[in-house]
Formats: sequence, C-alpha cells, structure tokens
Amino acid sequence: MTIEQHKPSPFEPATLGPVTLRNRTIKSATSEGRSPRGQVTDELIEFHRGFVDGGIGMTTIAYCTIAKEGYSAPGQILMNRRNLAGLKEFTDTMHLGGAAASAQLGHAGVVAHPKVTGVQPVAPSKFLNPTAFTRAREIARDEIRLIVRQFADAAELAAEAGFDNVELHFGHLYIVGSFLSPWINKRRDEYGGSIENRTRFALEIVEAVRDRVGNDIAVTAKLSMSDDIKGSIWLDESLRTAELLDQQGGLDAIELTQGSSVWHQMFMFRGGIPVDDLVKNQRFPFNIGGKLFGKRILGDYPYHDMFMLESARQFVPKMRNTKLIYLGGVNNAAHFHQAIDEGFDFVAIGRALLREPDLVNKAQADPSTEGICIHCNKCMYTVFGKTHCVFEPDYARNT
Ligand SMILES: Cc1cc2nc3c(=O)[nH]c(=O)nc-3n(C[C@H](O)[C@H](O)[C@H](O)COP(=O)(O)O)c2cc1C
Ligand code: SF4
Repeated sequence: MTIEQHKPSPFEPATLGPVTLRNRTIKSATSEGRSPRGQVTDELIEFHRGFVDGGIGMTTIAYCTIAKEGYSAPGQILMNRRNLAGLKEFTDTMHLGGAAASAQLGHAGVVAHPKVTGVQPVAPSKFLNPTAFTRAREIARDEIRLIVRQFADAAELAAEAGFDNVELHFGHLYIVGSFLSPWINKRRDEYGGSIENRTRFALEIVEAVRDRVGNDIAVTAKLSMSDDIKGSIWLDESLRTAELLDQQGGLDAIELTQGSSVWHQMFMFRGGIPVDDLVKNQRFPFNIGGKLFGKRILGDYPYHDMFMLESARQFVPKMRNTKLIYLGGVNNAAHFHQAIDEGFDFVAIGRALLREPDLVNKAQADPSTEGICIHCNKCMYTVFGKTHCVFEPDYARNT
C-alpha cells in the first residue's frame, strides 16, 4: 500500500523558527529609495503595505546597514536606536496587515560607498573594485570582531522593533561574501585559505546573533551559490558553506541567491541589460567607459523563468536543520508550486512583485495566473530615486 504524501501548498501557513507565516511567500529585499535621510518614512511603510495587502507572507525591508562604514548607497537605514520608533511603526503596520516583517542586515565591505561612509572600504585582503574603482584595505582582526558584534547589536535592535526575522546578508560579495570568495580573500590566517576558514566569519556572526536574540525571532541568511567571476564563488564551495551553517544549527533558513554587486551584476537578475541607465548614472569619464564596456562589466545573461533552480536544487538534500528559500525568476502561480514541490520551504520574489504587488493573491485565486514582469531590469537604476517598476509611474508617484 502506498501512502500518498501531502504536498504543502505555497499558500498554507508555515513556521520559520519561532514565527508562523500566513503562507510560504517572502518579498525579497529590493532597495526601496524611500528613506532619503536613512530613516523610516510613511512612503517606505506604504510601499511595503502594497505587498502585504497583496498577500505576501513576509516582507523584507532592504539593506539596513549595521555600521556607518557599511553603507552601499546613500539613504540606507542605519540600525541604531534613533531609528527604533520608525522601525516599530514599520513592523506594527505589517503585522496589522497580517504579514510578518524581516530586516535585511548587511555591511557592504568592498561595495561600501566611500562618498557616503567617508572612509576607505574594507575587504579580507587588499582589493581594487573593478566597477567602482575604489581600493579596499585589508580588515584588521579587531575590526572583524567589531563587525560580528555590530551584526548582533543590529539583530537585537530589530527584535526590539518587532521584526519577526533578520536576514543576514552573506551574498553578493558584500563583507561576508567577500570572505567566502577566494578571488577577494587572500588571507593567510584562520579566516583565509580553506573554505572552512573562509566560512568562519559567517559562522561567528550567526553564533553572535543567535546568542543575542535567542529564540525570540527567526534568523535567516542570504547566501550566494555562485557569482560567475573566475576564481570566485561556485557551487562546490557554497554547498560546503551551507553545510557548515546547517551543522551549526543557528539559522532557521537560507535564501539562496547568485551574482554580486562587484562584477557581472546581471548574473543576479538575468534579462535586459540597462546600459543606457548605467551611463546616465555615471559621471564623466566613467560614463564613456560605461557606454563602451557596460555590457562587459554587467555581463549578458538571457533571462529564463526559475533561473536559479538548477543550482538551488543541489542544496535541498544537504540541509538537515535549516529550511531553504527559493529565489530567482518566480513569475507565475505555477512557479510558486514548483519551488515547494521541489522541496523548498519558502518562495521569495523580487521583480515580479515590483511589477504586481498583489501577485500572491492573484496566484492563490487563480492557478493559471501569469506574471507580467518582462525582466527588462529598467527598475534596477530607479533605486537612485524611488525604486519602482517603470511600467507603473503612477504607482511610484503615489506611494
Ligand atoms: C531594484 C532592485 C533592487 C534590489 N535590491 C536588493 C537589496 O537591497 N538587497 C538584496 O539582497 N538584493 C536586492 N535585489 C535583488 C533581489 O532581492 C533578488 O535577489 C533578484 O531580483 C532576483 O530575484 P527575482 O528574479 O525574483 O527578481 C534587488 C533587485 C532589484 C530588481
Ligand atoms: S522594470 Fe518592471 S517589468 Fe522591468 S524588470 Fe523591473 S519590475 Fe519587471
């Protein structure tokens, strides 16, 4: 006799550590551009309320920096007590709408913006950022310990503000990702060399964060599987990193991503290459370089639905303690189901929700729902104003 296994629906509730989400969908972090002075604004709250009213299980406030030295762009929220009231208002509003709230916590490392931070960026070892032309200096050991503590401080503040989850940014070659990458990490101490050593920083951060927040909130990490840069991160090593994090048991889930903010940025998204927008956002003489070499810098990767699935499914059999969040090219109702059927516990969505904030409700109501995001990536450079889908200028203006 065969016992038919119940296949969960993406629209059923599910637990993430101590939290129960009303369904298995998560709005992935997409830089909002709605906190010009680095503080929570009504516009930022309204922006996220669109996803909550549209049915999302948990929405993620994008890139909150754990330290002044960690900004990757102007206008990001610094995790300090001055922002506590605003962050509380944010989580209260999301909860009233029935959704959970997550805060993405990061330190940009080699992607840090010296014009915003006022200091030289740091990296595991000296590094010249080939896109921004900034030089990073080697980080000292006491600074590594400081960053570990700053992640824990930021997570504690997020818990106090009512967040249900913190998402630790271990991807996209930001500070933790740069330690994981043998392209950037040339250290000879216990933080360099083997993948076990290069994962040490990530493990220390998870341990410190978990010690601090206990089981009050969920803790997840966004981890790059590969970045399509020669000599950098690929599956053989990212699978080992995930395994080490899983054995440690400090994370409730890992959101798998790919690509970086350093080189071949389009590997993160696939689809249209917004070279014209890149050029518009650069000053002379970088705009000339952008016009000539933009495609080479950003990389050319045709879009296909569920574009991270082939890599991400390698992680499913490896996880014993940690849930997995599928991300990348989720665009219609069938994709929500496919990700869950493949063994992922949650489904995260970026651009398709920028295009249609109520895609989750639509997909739940009608399984034949097809998303209308065309992956032109024109929204990429709107992050320098108010992030929005270019097909929805009114939506952008009215929020
Ligand atoms: C406009 C825009 C801004 C983004 N900002 C962030 C960010 O702040 N942090 C982050 O980890 N990823 C960011 N991403 C990447 C998305 O979270 C996601 O990894 C990527 O878009 C792939 O998912 P999708 O195919 O569902 O769009 C951004 C993406 C877009 C399009
Ligand atoms: S601009 Fe709109 S349609 Fe184009 S990728 Fe972004 S969300 Fe999708």
